[in-house]
Amino acid sequence: MERIDFRSDTVTRPTADMLAAMGAAAVGDDVFAEDPTAGELERRCARMLGHEAGLFFPSGTMANQAAIQVHVAPGDEVICGDLSHIYHYEGGGIARNAGASVRLLGGNRGRFTAEQAVAAINPPDSHFARTALIALEDTVNKGGGAVWAEDEIERIRAVADERGLPVHLDGARLWNAQVARGASVGTDADWSGYGRRFNSISVCFSKGLGAPVGSVLVGSADFIRRAHRVRKVMGGGMRQIGGLAAACLHALDHHLPELHRDHERARRLGEALLAHPDFTGLEPVETNIVIAELRPGVSAADATRELEERGMRCMAFGPTKIRWVLHRDLNDAHLDRALAVLAAWRAG
Ligand SMILES: Cc1ncc(COP(=O)(O)O)c(C=O)c1O
Repeated sequence: MERIDFRSDTVTRPTADMLAAMGAAAVGDDVFAEDPTAGELERRCARMLGHEAGLFFPSGTMANQAAIQVHVAPGDEVICGDLSHIYHYEGGGIARNAGASVRLLGGNRGRFTAEQAVAAINPPDSHFARTALIALEDTVNKGGGAVWAEDEIERIRAVADERGLPVHLDGARLWNAQVARGASVGTDADWSGYGRRFNSISVCFSKGLGAPVGSVLVGSADFIRRAHRVRKVMGGGMRQIGGLAAACLHALDHHLPELHRDHERARRLGEALLAHPDFTGLEPVETNIVIAELRPGVSAADATRELEERGMRCMAFGPTKIRWVLHRDLNDAHLDRALAVLAAWRAG
C-alpha cells in the first residue's frame, strides 16, 4: 500500500528536470571559489534579498549556526522565539558552537513582539550576559507555518537599530511566507525590501522548493567573508557543488512559482480536519503546515499509527497534536485519497 507522506516537506525527491539541470551544471572546486554555478546561486539569493553576498551551505542548520557564530561571542546571549528551530532542533548548537546562552520569548505561535524583545535585552552590567543577537524564524515551523506580520518585523528592526543589535532570520521557509504575503515569485522577484530588515538570512532549498540539498546564507560582504571561515571550520567547505546549486536554481525558476498549491491543499486538509469528530482544534492554516488537536482521550501516537496503517503518514506533534506538511510530491489525487482515509477513520 502506498503511504501518502505528510511528515515533512523535506521528503520530496528531485524531478527528472531537476536531475537534468544538476547533470548539466558547470562545476569547479568551491573551496577555491571556482564553482561557477554555486557562485551564480549565491549572487542570485543575495540580490533577491537585498544583500551584498551569499554563501552556499549543505544544510539550514549549518547556515544558521555559522550565522550565529559570526554574530555572537562566547558568553553572549541570543534572543529568539520559544518555538525556534535554532533552539529546539539544532542539537544545542547555540551553546555548543557559539558558547552563547539563549533568552526565549513566548509569543503567538513563535512570533514575539518588539516590546518583548526590548524587555529581554540585558543592561550593560557585567552581572548579565551581553545580548548580542535577535533571531526570528519566518515561517515558524513549530508554530504551524506561521507568517510574521511585516510591521512587527519593522518594529523589531527599529529596536535592534536603537540598541546596536544584529537581527538574523531563519528563513528556511521564507518562500512560503512570501507566497502567503502575495510577493512576486517570478525569476526577477525582488524581495530586497523584506530582506534588508535583517543583517543575515538563511534560506533552504530542501524544504518546499524540493531540492535534495542546499541552503544559502546572505549578508554583507564582510559578514559572508567571516561566515566562510566558520563554514570551513565546521567542515562545510565543499568541492564540485555546482550540481547541487543547479538544483536550487532550478527550484527557484520552476518550483517557487508553484508553491502556492501546497498552501491551497493545506487549507483543504484543514477544512477536513475541522469537520472530523476526533479533532477539536485547528491552528490557523497560513502556509503549508497543518496542526490539529485531537479530542480528549485520543493520543497522537495512537492516532498517527492508525492513520499510517490506512495509508496516511503524518507526525505526532506532542501528546495530543498531529502535524501534516504539504509539499510538491503530493498532488490533488494524493490529497483526495488522504481525505478519504481521514473521513473513514475514527480514533480507537
Ligand atoms: C525552520 C527551520 N530552520 C532550519 C532547518 C534546518 O534545516 P536542515 O534540515 O537543512 O538542517 C529546518 C529544518 O526543517 C527548519 O524547519
